[in-house]
Amino acid sequence: MTLTLPLRLLIATALAALTSLPTTAQTSEHSFIDKNMAFAARQYHRLAAVPPEGRAVMPHSLDAKRNLVRVPVRAWTAGFFPGTLWLLADYNDDKALLDSARAYTRLMKPMQHYTGNHDIGFMMMCSYGNAVRLAPQPGDTAVLATAARTLTRRFDEKVGAIKSWDSFRSWHGVSTYTYPVIIDNMMNLELLFFAAQVSGNDTLRHIAVSHADKTLRWQVRPDGSCFHVVYYNPENGAFIKGETAQGYADNSTWSRGQAWGIYGFTMVYRETGERRFLDAAMKMADFYANHPALPADKVPYWDFDAYRPGFVPGRRSHARDVVTNYRDASAAACTASALLELSTYAQGERAERYFETARAILHTLASPAYRAAEGGNGGFILRHSVGSIPHGNEIDVPLSYADYYFVEALCRYGLLLNKRPLFVGRNVKQASKAR
Ligand code: GLY
Repeated sequence: MTLTLPLRLLIATALAALTSLPTTAQTSEHSFIDKNMAFAARQYHRLAAVPPEGRAVMPHSLDAKRNLVRVPVRAWTAGFFPGTLWLLADYNDDKALLDSARAYTRLMKPMQHYTGNHDIGFMMMCSYGNAVRLAPQPGDTAVLATAARTLTRRFDEKVGAIKSWDSFRSWHGVSTYTYPVIIDNMMNLELLFFAAQVSGNDTLRHIAVSHADKTLRWQVRPDGSCFHVVYYNPENGAFIKGETAQGYADNSTWSRGQAWGIYGFTMVYRETGERRFLDAAMKMADFYANHPALPADKVPYWDFDAYRPGFVPGRRSHARDVVTNYRDASAAACTASALLELSTYAQGERAERYFETARAILHTLASPAYRAAEGGNGGFILRHSVGSIPHGNEIDVPLSYADYYFVEALCRYGLLLNKRPLFVGRNVKQASKAR
């Protein structure tokens, strides 16, 4: 990632202001991070100890009987397990976890050619992206460059966006539009920016910026919330409509989608330095942090509107079936990680607010209300995430991506406490530890 000079100066000023915690508080926060990273490493040793068999190789969740669910490498979540292993190996200087991270990452190699949907960014950046950042081996960067070119095959210049799914029959069985784009897709742009930088191929960058602009124009709503799914006309790129797939209603705000948006626009600002993307990230972050339905512990319900008195769902909604009060720890973990980065780009009181909100989320997630007991939770770190309530999938379970963003956020928190920038090139080995 290449930070422009003004962006570097801005971050340096923000870092100096941000982490003005008294020394005693800093020490106790470092100890908080150390304890959680050590706990997470013990849990992941357990998960990594069971050798994968067959095609479903990557630990993903637990089923209703609390048995381990693994997914094949083509699943959108496949990169998170190796990604978490990389982060924990690096922080804890743990050779066994490092070896596991490499072994599980290698399983992802064939996915550099995967064209089935847009998720190749999640899959490859969490696995190979962390490998390249923390312990690169010959050929790792080339895998990411190929993966980025693969992702561009889903981009259509007429629409100006990457198509998320090939076709999608929406949950109410009516829509069968042909160019669906989901907010999650913002996360996959990081692969394009990375590959643009290492290959000098500006087309990759153009595609990423075009997609982000299209999403900003049509997917982000004026109040800073977002549609989960937007359909475009493939002939001319015109907006057709916004819907939901995993949220409560078409006009509601699915919490993890909001988290993907906050994280995605923050990352696009990092990569471009373009103010409109920072504004988008802050608007989406403010929606999350100021929402009247956000509980005091700052872990949202699975949809901001599912449990909000007075909210009137749009015509198409799951209203009769799925008004439940499940929380989604994965949305909170991803938001915490995003807010820590955003706090280094925002100014003054706003930066402090983002930092403090992230800190509050991390402390909530690390409390017994969310964090597993030692040896429990099948080896996963966090409890109480939600895959998709409308589909009846993965309700109130551990999920590999909740763990990944929790651990990533802890690493980022440590870096900021040390007044270290989060992105200084490829190597941020152990700079998050107390010193
Ligand atoms: N990207 C799919 C999900 O967030 O559930």
